[in-house]
Amino acid sequence: MIEQKIKAAIRDVHDFPKPGIIFKDVTTILQDHQLCQEILDAFVERAQGMHIDAVAGVESRGFLFGLMIAMKLGVPFIPVRKAGKLPFTVKRKVYELEYGTATIELHTDAFTPGSNVLIHDDLLATGGTVTATSELIKEMGGHIAGFSFVVGLSFLKGEEKISPISDNIVVLAN
Ligand code: PRP
Ligand code: MG
Repeated sequence: MIEQKIKAAIRDVHDFPKPGIIFKDVTTILQDHQLCQEILDAFVERAQGMHIDAVAGVESRGFLFGLMIAMKLGVPFIPVRKAGKLPFTVKRKVYELEYGTATIELHTDAFTPGSNVLIHDDLLATGGTVTATSELIKEMGGHIAGFSFVVGLSFLKGEEKISPISDNIVVLAN
């Protein structure tokens, strides 16, 4: 049910940011506050039993629901940022993206070592972004409680890439 609503709300933009890419535009979901509430409720329900101590959201679209999930669960939020944005000391990782390469950074004091961290992003494509995020979090002493996404592009097989890291994978629409 929610899957159909999400699919209906997402806008496919052809040839963005490069020719041949069909961009999944989630900004159209944000225009529907009731759907946003349903998405948040679905994430929180699926997070039960994962023993989450913190939620990491990936810049920038992972911030949208990531902070809301953290607030609903009553745990800290960890902003995973692109290179050069965080002002304090950072740990970084370079990774392959669906198109090109990217770098993510975390503040060295972003979470308490030993925390079980849920990694959230809007979209699971190749899984490169959240895999890099999980590696960074583990290098900093965290454990991966699971992953959550609004949308998954199943043909890119991102779930196969991340399932060895955690089998708690929530994808609301595929
Ligand atoms: C998109 C999307 C995910 C990532 C998924 O972010 O929001 O973060 O790509 O791709 P992957 O599974 O192949 O790693 P993008 O880098 O376009 O930036 P944005 O969130 O700031 O728009
Ligand atoms: Mg993103």
